[in-house]
Amino acid sequence: MTPFERRTRACQRRLREQETEAVVLFPSRNLQYTTSFVEEPGERHLFFIVPAAGEPVFVVPELYGKQLRSETWVTDVRTWGDSDDPRTLIETVVRNSSIDPQNRLLVDDTMGARFTQELRSLFPTATFGLASEVLASLRRRKDDAEIESLKTAAAITDQVVASVRGLGSDAIGLTESELAADIEKRLQAAGGSGVSFAPIVGSGPNGAKPHHSHEDREIRPGEPVVLDFGTRVEGYPSDQTRTLVFDGEPPEKVTDVHEIVMDAQAAAVDAVAPGVEASTVDTAARDVIESAGYGDQFIHRTGHGVGLDVHEEPYIVADNDRTLQPGMVFSIEPGVYVSDEFGVRIEDLMVVTEDGCERLNHADRGLMCA
Ligand code: CO
Repeated sequence: MTPFERRTRACQRRLREQETEAVVLFPSRNLQYTTSFVEEPGERHLFFIVPAAGEPVFVVPELYGKQLRSETWVTDVRTWGDSDDPRTLIETVVRNSSIDPQNRLLVDDTMGARFTQELRSLFPTATFGLASEVLASLRRRKDDAEIESLKTAAAITDQVVASVRGLGSDAIGLTESELAADIEKRLQAAGGSGVSFAPIVGSGPNGAKPHHSHEDREIRPGEPVVLDFGTRVEGYPSDQTRTLVFDGEPPEKVTDVHEIVMDAQAAAVDAVAPGVEASTVDTAARDVIESAGYGDQFIHRTGHGVGLDVHEEPYIVADNDRTLQPGMVFSIEPGVYVSDEFGVRIEDLMVVTEDGCERLNHADRGLMCA
């Protein structure tokens, strides 16, 4: 059984537990998670109907039929042509299934209103909920295939940040945008597929803005550069941050702050174990930075879950009392942002294991390139 089918079967078990008739997916991460199929949501009816019991059915435009039959595990693929009304086909599929459309149905969280309204009028006595009611808790804990992809993506990012570190004084005078473009090329060359998000290259004062992307500012000696980037493998992203001084002597404040952020990150990593509340991990990082006097300058949560979405549950944040469980993957990325001067952030991805945790990133975390 493929991992995609296994996930769909687990989803069906949850539907039965929650006395829900079916979930209807649309092009989305949920669809990718259950079928491997990746497509942008469009104006056409492309549904994956998963009943609580029995075989799931694809209802798709004719032009996708062959592709879905050969590229996914799903065997029941029904197609509609340009002169057909797809609503008739959807009604037929539901009528001939175990689904009782008087009861509860779930629709994909990102399905457009046009399609959800249409399902409401096709099945006027049904009550509706969101696919995340059954899928979010499944997606929170990664299976072996997912962890494998996340590890490979992390290893590529480690390799690229090591090669960027190797630029040393050659990086001086490059603009942030030039370095960002170079990083994208290196990720691709190392086997990654695109970028998880536009790379962040925050030099000097730009590093003090956590979501700065990159601009035409040139990298100067003695200043820290925040490098936050990732790539995808089998759809799964990496997300890693290092803060580097490429050449020259940084001010003492920079080396001090870097040390503090390293300690905060290590403290948070030490706190990770199954059964621990997410907020405890946030507190572990925050305590170190607060006691060093930089509490006001750590202006974001400690981390976020990573899966098909770069930001997903679990969030490592002060008010999250959800407990960590084996298979959860998330970032630990404390930072200190000194306005108009510089920023420091260090980020690794972690996976919770049965008896603790494992880092997915291992690249050198040191400040100085040479
Ligand atoms: Co991140």
